[in-house]
Amino acid sequence: MSTDTSSQDILVHTEAAVTTITFNRVDKKNSITEAMYAAMADALVAAQADAAVRVVVFQGDMAIFSAGNDIADFLRQSAQGGQQAAAQDAGEPSVWRFLRALAAFPKPLVAAVCGPAVGIGTTLLLHCDLVYAGDNAAFSLPFVNLGLCPEAASSLLLPQMLGYHRAAEALLLGEPFMAEAALEVGLVNRVVPPAECNLLAQTQAKKLAAKPLSALIETKRLMKAGQSAAVRARMDEEGASFARLMAGPAAREAFSAFMDKRHPDFSKC
Ligand code: COA
Repeated sequence: MSTDTSSQDILVHTEAAVTTITFNRVDKKNSITEAMYAAMADALVAAQADAAVRVVVFQGDMAIFSAGNDIADFLRQSAQGGQQAAAQDAGEPSVWRFLRALAAFPKPLVAAVCGPAVGIGTTLLLHCDLVYAGDNAAFSLPFVNLGLCPEAASSLLLPQMLGYHRAAEALLLGEPFMAEAALEVGLVNRVVPPAECNLLAQTQAKKLAAKPLSALIETKRLMKAGQSAAVRARMDEEGASFARLMAGPAAREAFSAFMDKRHPDFSKC
């Protein structure tokens, strides 16, 4: 049996114990709006609660995984003083709800990444268990270029994974790195032609779905046990900094420049 709980920009399809979340806003390079974060958070909460779901897969299409947060949304939030981005207990913004659900998700998470994976398009992968990349995948973390700071505990997890200096290059310079470099540092499991990537992720998800769920959950929990509290704490700390920077002049200039299709001028920020 298969089920669909899709909105237009996020498709959620469940079949044979695998829930697949597909970015489907290709005209805007799969950039992620508040409504899309809400749809993904809801899909994760539902997949966690549904005993019939054993694995969740994230995918885009062959040319684009995700251009990260929608910058028009960022500009609006910046004008509102950044408070939308602040992690609050009541009425928590959808992006933080999504990130918390992702970081705490107990069942296996698989991702298929082709084309650009920008910002949260890369940081969400740090919380996936298996990541497959098309040879056109380009990972980038341009938070500083946008007057912002990292999120999704990437300021903790990336230095652990890449080593401090390579993480600093990725996070301070914000320049893209390609699939082969991501393979070398262990951010992805395998690099394949883009046309094969989503299929490979589904094949691996089906293999996982055939295994005993209780053993999968316990193994994942044990692998992450040493750092789950630190990840939660870092996400909170990043969230507070992100909200403060979001309301600042550098972020406003960066977002306006992107929307106006011009280079930002940080000479006064
Ligand atoms: N937010 C809102 N709109 C976005 C977007 C984003 N993050 N990324 C792309 N778009 C829109 C563009 O404004 C453009 O819209 P238009 O057709 O109405 O002008 C459309 O998507 C196509 O984008 P374009 O830049 O022309 O595509 P490209 O193939 O040349 O480049 C990217 C693709 C992903 C490299 C580039 O779009 C990009 O760098 N996007 C911004 C990434 C970013 O900084 N994200 C925030 C991370 S925290």
